[in-house]
Amino acid sequence: MGNVAVIGSQWGDEGKGKIVDWLSSRADIVVRFQGGHNAGHTLVIDGVTYKLHLLPSGVVRKGKLAIIGNGVVIDPWALLKEIEDVRAQGVDVSPANLMIAENANMILPIHSAIDKAFEAARGSKSIGTTGRGIGPAYEDKVARRGIRICDLAHETLLKEKIENLLLHHNALLKGLGAETVSPQAVYDGLMQISGTILQYASPVWKRLDAANKSGEKVLFEGAQGAMLDVDHGTYPYVTSSNTVAGQAASGSGVGPRSVGYVLGITKAYTTRVGSGPFPTELLDADGELLGSRGHEFGTTTGRKRRCGWFDAALVRQTTKISGIHGIALTKLDVLDAFKEIKICTGYELDGQIVDHLPASQLHQANLKPVYEVIEGWNQSTRGARSWADLPATAIKYVRRIEELVETPVTLLSTSPERDDTILMQDPFLAA
Ligand code: GDP
Ligand code: IMO
Ligand code: MG
Repeated sequence: MGNVAVIGSQWGDEGKGKIVDWLSSRADIVVRFQGGHNAGHTLVIDGVTYKLHLLPSGVVRKGKLAIIGNGVVIDPWALLKEIEDVRAQGVDVSPANLMIAENANMILPIHSAIDKAFEAARGSKSIGTTGRGIGPAYEDKVARRGIRICDLAHETLLKEKIENLLLHHNALLKGLGAETVSPQAVYDGLMQISGTILQYASPVWKRLDAANKSGEKVLFEGAQGAMLDVDHGTYPYVTSSNTVAGQAASGSGVGPRSVGYVLGITKAYTTRVGSGPFPTELLDADGELLGSRGHEFGTTTGRKRRCGWFDAALVRQTTKISGIHGIALTKLDVLDAFKEIKICTGYELDGQIVDHLPASQLHQANLKPVYEVIEGWNQSTRGARSWADLPATAIKYVRRIEELVETPVTLLSTSPERDDTILMQDPFLAA
């Protein structure tokens, strides 16, 4: 029995949190491997809602180890606040069940300030980031001037690193005519939380190696979605990390074979938050209905999500890029109210039919979706817990998605509640 990676196959918010929470009963360890608190993962357990941003969704289950891997950018203040928030909901979080990679980079207040300032400067061309400092923190990491969790243990080195970091940022801030940041203020801020954060820090790769040896099962929890991947997504309207399954290995410190089965979380229609191309976007009453039935408001920023029909060409592409073995199809119930449902099978671009999303930003902006129309089922599927409870027309929709995406649907979600889930193939048994 192997490990499982859960990743988003669209533009995020596919329902990863719900599925990770549900699957975590079968796992020993749940690991986040990229992104940061730009993520918003919602869990509904017996009517109680938990909103997680940085903490892996496995944290709510007793006896599971939650790990934040090296590929994540960690805002230590956001992390501590989130720990307090979930504790207030009765969830135990301590170094006994939460571990953070000592080699993970941190998000500092300056990163979110820069994120917001550049978004404002882009005006109508803004990316629509979450303003959490994700992009600037990853930039510093790659530029080798980032400050890592392990640096908190060494005061002199930390001071030097802060000076070096601010050499860059203060020059930029001066150029923009903005106020510069004092290294002492950054240092003092970090020293206030360093003791608490360091309690959780450890060599995560070693713990995962031990898990591998002892046969403990690991569930890798992706954030965002493959279309927001910095290489494979709708660049530049993407996040600043690799969100595809390949990142699970490097973002946590295991070899690629350890990742095992890749489960692609896929919404039965499409949504996107922020700017950027979205070929099947609906700016009409159908789009509004998808949004209101699906409660499509961002978990992190509260922004209204853009909604549209299912794009099979796009999911086929992300399925290949991420090596998705099976699809967990979520929010099928949102389509219950539609007489007719459309599926995008490809695009028209300059009079030609294309079967994939081309890389060029200009091409992406000019794609016209080619649709096929599927009959709706006009009947509730909400809360269905077995395949036999589904109307034949709903099954037909699922089967058509499988054909077009060239991947089996192995799990189906029919409401936000943990147990309103239909399992066709156990990913841990198939890994
Ligand atoms: P994530 O970022 O991929 O974890 O997804 P979010 O939590 O941001 O958004 C998914 C939303 O859909 C959450 O509010 C979930 O509670 C909800 N949800 C998940 N699965 C289903 C489902 O099958 N049906 C319905 N109606 N809602 C669902
Ligand atoms: P989960 O894990 C949906 C989007 C932002 C913006 C772009 C870049 O909940 O699926 P960033 O702050 O990352 O630099 O913003 O990426 N974005 C998400 N959209 N779900 C998410 O996470 C997202 N995380 C980032 O809206 O368009
Ligand atoms: Mg989300």
